Amino acid sequence: MLRAYVKTLRDNAAHARLIWASTTQITVQDKPVEVDPENNPTIAERNVIAARVMQENGIAVDDLYTLMSDKLELAKGDKFHWSPKGVAVQADAVAAMIGDTLWKIAKLADGQGANYDEAKVGTLELPALLTAADGSVIATSKDWTAKRRPEVLELYREHVYGRTPEVSKTKFVVTAIQPAAFGGLATRKLIHVTLPDYPQWQGMDVMLYVPNAAPKPVPVFCGLNFDGNHAASPESDVPLSTRWMRESAVKNIVDHRATEASRGNERHYWQLEMVLKRGHAVATAYYGDLEPDHRDGWKDGLRAVLGKDGANTVWKDGDWGAIGVWSWGLSRMLDYLETESDIDLRKAAVLGHSRLGKTALWSGAQDPRWALVIANNSGEGGGALMRRDFGETTEIITRGYPHWFTPKYKSYAKNAAACPVDQHMLVALMAPRPIYLATAAEDLWSDPRGEFFSGKNAEPVYALFGKSGLGVMEQPAIDQPCGDFIRYHIRAGKHTVSDWDWEQFMTFAERHHAKLSQ
Ligand code: GCU
Repeated sequence: MLRAYVKTLRDNAAHARLIWASTTQITVQDKPVEVDPENNPTIAERNVIAARVMQENGIAVDDLYTLMSDKLELAKGDKFHWSPKGVAVQADAVAAMIGDTLWKIAKLADGQGANYDEAKVGTLELPALLTAADGSVIATSKDWTAKRRPEVLELYREHVYGRTPEVSKTKFVVTAIQPAAFGGLATRKLIHVTLPDYPQWQGMDVMLYVPNAAPKPVPVFCGLNFDGNHAASPESDVPLSTRWMRESAVKNIVDHRATEASRGNERHYWQLEMVLKRGHAVATAYYGDLEPDHRDGWKDGLRAVLGKDGANTVWKDGDWGAIGVWSWGLSRMLDYLETESDIDLRKAAVLGHSRLGKTALWSGAQDPRWALVIANNSGEGGGALMRRDFGETTEIITRGYPHWFTPKYKSYAKNAAACPVDQHMLVALMAPRPIYLATAAEDLWSDPRGEFFSGKNAEPVYALFGKSGLGVMEQPAIDQPCGDFIRYHIRAGKHTVSDWDWEQFMTFAERHHAKLSQ
């Protein structure tokens, strides 16, 4: 029957893009949090059958059943319907799915559909890593550090991320200390970071957790978060961020502001207890404290504060973009940690996911104090080679997120091959420090294979320092991390940070940290 429906729709509306939404739960009358034991199993079973039929027909599934499974309290209590809040959550998901589909259709219409066919990628010619601008060949780590590295860094400033201005005089004020966070597992501090010379900037709030029982000083993982410190932590006494956030019914962000119900939204990305129990400190801050993440966000962020003409500044090639500002924030976090005797700065890792993975890489490239760099699912503009036409491309990213980069980067939209850098060079800027490129099998948009080849092509620089890289010629199998100073994995699953990813990051950090104490 369902197959016949699909056929009828296809026959009568050949150009329509079909999306199937699964049926939501039937709950018990007047007890919305309970699913109806008699009728609901049929719903679940039919959803599975429908999903199979949709898969056969290449139709996307908007899985509202799964979306609502941990939100049953939003049911209306009449068995079938949802409260206004429940409807809003589903509308949000439906709108996001339609928006995403339209965006992909628009790209297709433009001849810009993302390519997912490896056979169409072809062979690539990458910019030479070990040939200096004057044509000389770089053969020693000394030459790399003194000559070629500064050139590559400068190319990244001019063509990709822009220059980070020098800002002096940062002020740190510890605003709260909770010595018994997570029931005594850790001490939590909140630190307000400001620029006394620029009081217009509202500052950045760093949340630092230090494990109490671990011998001091401890190693630390630092990274920005997407939804505020109150979202990264499950603890209810972390102050709610008051800054601009993207509207989202699912995340309970109303009128662009977090609400009490937004707490813990991002806790799955930050496995705080797990990491603290293994003896690592964690420092994080909301990326929106530095710049709200939308095209005009810079006008309300640090870029306008420091910009020549404030919110009227016209950005030129080589000027910084949002990734530059966010990376700057990570370095200020490190400045603060330099004042913390409980933290071992020789063991400071910067990490980030997705756009914040790109940010971690750029911070790692600019700030040599990062002992380790970890980029999770960082993709285009991050760990993935830009010349590989697979998943997101330079054109797509500069169209969707022009504010992340320096204006010049957009000029490579239709011609990535003309850009004087490619991302193996960004990886090489970390040398000889250990770097981890973590990808996910279902995250083809981020081009996991392109990240492997970035790592692979950065190996010659690590070799100059006598450090081994990936140690394999071919991309490893799923869930099989490989490599020493350049480490890589492709995890089963989607675009996210999983517990398993964290396990790998901690093992990687501990292995490298252990060498320091020897
Ligand atoms: C989009 C964007 C990616 C980015 C990702 C994220 O998908 O195209 O480049 O990494 O968002 O930050 O989640």
